[in-house]
Amino acid sequence: MSLREVPTPEADFLVIGSGVAGLRAAIELSRHGRVLMLTKGHPLESSSIYAQGGVAVALSEEDDVAIHLTDTVKAGHGLCRQEAVRVLVEEGPDRIQELIAWGARFDKVGGKFAFAREAAHSRSRILRARGDATGNEMVRVLMAQARRHKRIQWLKNHFTIDLVVVGGACRGALVLDEATGSRAVIPASAVVLTTGGAGQVYARTTNPPNATGDGMAMAFRAGAVLEDMEFVQFHPTALYLPSSPPFLLSEAIRGEGGQLRNIKGEPFMHRYHPAGTLAPRDIVARAIWSEMAATRSRHVYLDVTHLDAEFIKRRFPTIYSTCLRYDIDITEEWIPVSPSAHYMMGGVKTDTEGATSLPGLFAAGEVACSGVHGANRLASNSLLEGLVFGARAALAATTFAGRLRRAAASLPSAGELDAGPLGVLDDADKLRSSLRRLMWGKVGLVRTRESLVSATAQLSRWERVVARPFGTRQDLEVKNMVQVARCIAEAALWRENSVGAHYRADCPDKKRPGWNQHSQLEHTAAVTGLKPARIRRAAVGSGGRGA
Ligand code: FAD
Ligand code: SIN
Repeated sequence: MSLREVPTPEADFLVIGSGVAGLRAAIELSRHGRVLMLTKGHPLESSSIYAQGGVAVALSEEDDVAIHLTDTVKAGHGLCRQEAVRVLVEEGPDRIQELIAWGARFDKVGGKFAFAREAAHSRSRILRARGDATGNEMVRVLMAQARRHKRIQWLKNHFTIDLVVVGGACRGALVLDEATGSRAVIPASAVVLTTGGAGQVYARTTNPPNATGDGMAMAFRAGAVLEDMEFVQFHPTALYLPSSPPFLLSEAIRGEGGQLRNIKGEPFMHRYHPAGTLAPRDIVARAIWSEMAATRSRHVYLDVTHLDAEFIKRRFPTIYSTCLRYDIDITEEWIPVSPSAHYMMGGVKTDTEGATSLPGLFAAGEVACSGVHGANRLASNSLLEGLVFGARAALAATTFAGRLRRAAASLPSAGELDAGPLGVLDDADKLRSSLRRLMWGKVGLVRTRESLVSATAQLSRWERVVARPFGTRQDLEVKNMVQVARCIAEAALWRENSVGAHYRADCPDKKRPGWNQHSQLEHTAAVTGLKPARIRRAAVGSGGRGA
C-alpha cells in the first residue's frame, strides 16, 4: 500500500502520523483542502496496524451506547470527561458503519457480526477482523480510501522535528527528510497531530519501535498543555521470552477462556477480583506483578491448552503463528507472559473537537488526551477513538483555517528556528536504553515517592544533555523520549494517590485529597527543555484549561 509521493510539499493542512487517527483525519480534511500527510519511516509502521483484540462499538443487539458509556466511565475510575465519552460512544457506530461501507470486513458468525467480550466490558461489543488482525484491516481500508482522494499527498520517511508557532498560533512544522538529512519548514493553515503513543520510553512495551512520544514532546515544546501524563496503561499479558520482544497476547484470549497461572501452575486471579481473569486491565497487571514478586519469578503463564486447538488457530492466527516462531505451540504449552507498557491515557490536552491549548494545533488518537479514558482505558476503545476524534479534529481544523486571514504568515526558515548549531548525541543508543530501564524500574507499574524523586532528578540531568538541536531521527527521538519520560515522572510524583493505572505504593489509597483532579503540564519557556516543567491542576469535569 502506498500513496502518491510529492515533489513539492504544499498544503492547506498538515497531518502528522498515518495510523487510524491520522488517516481518518486526512480523509475528512481532503473534502476541504489540500492535505499533506507526514510520516516518519514507513507509513504502515504504527500501533494501529498491530491492534489485535478489536474495536469496541455499541452495535450488537444486547448493547446500547448508554451501557458502553457506563463501562468506559467505570474503567476510567472517575477521571473520564463525560462529554468526551458521550461523543465517543454516540458517534462510534456511525464511524464503524462508514468503515464497513468503505470495505472493512469484520468477522461474522452465521451471517451476523461476531461481537467478542473483553475485560471490564459488561456486554459483548468487540468487533474483530481476521481473528486477531483488526488494526491491519482498519488501516488497509482507510489507506485505500485515502488513496482515492486526490487532494491527499504523502511524505513518508519524513520526521517532524517541531511545530512552528508564529503569532501565538501553530502555522506549520519543521521536518527532516530521513533519506537526505535535509530539513524544511512546511507551512499550513492548521496542523493535526496524530503521532500515537510513547511506549518506547519503557524497557518492556507492546508498542512498535517508532512509538517514542514525538508528538507529545513537540507539542509541549511549542507551548501546548499536556494532561494526565502519569496514566500509563500496562497490558497484563505480553510474551516473556529472552529471545523475543514483548509481543502482545490479546486480552481476547482471556475473553475466550484463557487462564492465568503463576509459576507454580496455580490459577490466582480469583484471589484478586471477582471477575477473575476478566478484571480491569490495571488490576490484572498488578495481580501478575504481585504473583511474580511472591514467587520470585519474571513471568506468569497464560494457559489456553484446555481450549480446542483448531478454534485457537482459527480465532488467533497471528498470535498462534508468532508464538510458533518462538518455538511455543500455544495449543500445547503454557505461554510465559508478563506486563508491558501498552498505552498512554495522558497526552496533549484537547477539547471534544480535538482543539489543543495552542491555536491552530489539533490532536487526535493516542497522542491526545481528550478525557475519554480517564485513569484507565477500557480495552478496544482506542481504535474507535482514533476514528471518532480523527474526524472531529479534522472538522475543527477546517473551521479554524476558514477563520484565518488569507494572507500567508511569514515563517522562519529551518536555520532560523535552531537555537544553535546542530549537535550529535554521544552514545544515543546507550542513553535510550538507560532511559527505558530507569522508567521501567522507577516509573513503572508500581511507583513510590522515592523512586519518582530519583527518576525525575536523573531525567532532569538527561534533559540538559538533550537540550539542543539535533540533525538525525535517532538523536531527535531520544530527545523526545527524555522529555516525555520527564513529563510522566513529574506528573506521577505530583499525584499522591493511587487511581486507575497509576499506583503509588507509598500512598495506595484512592480517596486522598486531589484524587479526582487532572494533572496538567506546561512548559515554562516554550523554547528549550532546560527549564523544569510546571504542573497546574484542574478539577475533574471543569473542562477548563487549568485552575
Ligand atoms: P499510531 O497508530 O501509533 O500512528 C502514529 C503515526 O505517527 C505513525 O504513522 C508514526 O510513524 C507517526 N509518527 C510518530 N512520530 C512522528 C514524527 N515525529 N514525524 C512523523 N510521523 C510520526 N487498541 C484497540 O482499540 N484495540 C486493540 O485491539 C488494540 N490492540 C493493540 C495492540 C498493540 C500491539 C498495540 C501496540 C496497541 C493496541 N491498541 C489497541 C492501541 C491502539 O492500537 C493505538 O492506541 C492506536 O492505534 C493509536 O492510533 P494513532 O493513530 O493515534 O497512532
Ligand atoms: C488487546 O487485544 O488485548 C489489546 C486491546 C487494546 O489495547 O485495546
